[in-house]
Amino acid sequence: MISLTVNGKRYQVDVSPDTPLLWVIRESLGLTGTKFGCGMAQCGACTVLLDGEAVRSCVAPVSRAIGREVTTIEGLSPDLSHPLQQAWIAEDVPQCGYCQSGQLMSAAVLLREKPQPTDEDIDQAMAGNLCRCGTYPRIRKAIHRAAGMIAKGGAK
Ligand code: FES
Ligand code: FES
Repeated sequence: MISLTVNGKRYQVDVSPDTPLLWVIRESLGLTGTKFGCGMAQCGACTVLLDGEAVRSCVAPVSRAIGREVTTIEGLSPDLSHPLQQAWIAEDVPQCGYCQSGQLMSAAVLLREKPQPTDEDIDQAMAGNLCRCGTYPRIRKAIHRAAGMIAKGGAK
């Protein structure tokens, strides 16, 4: 048995330590907001946070998460109140939506590290998250909007 803390809840999962964390999140825990894209650390669809750092859960063995705090898109906020979620809705960012939970998790790390990012900061920080629908301009606008909300006290 492996003990995990995901979105603040403790879980026991009966999987091999080398099982990809993504599989455990989706299949064992039923948290399907995190997506499988490439399976090769190339697209960012599977991005989750491990102790606040963005990781590609498709290539991270579950053993890497032992003793650490895993945050998935479901844990960003319980009620869509995170400034990024609000900004994403306001800017109508998603098209098909497949890449968006990964985009949001990377954006969350960016805003924690750079609360007022420039366009260049955004492009650099988000470069590892691909969007086949080409929503990049709206992602950028939404990150700026969220940064504005955080500056006005809407931060988490
Ligand atoms: S599915 Fe993990 S990076 Fe693409
Ligand atoms: S919204 Fe479709 S892949 Fe990004």
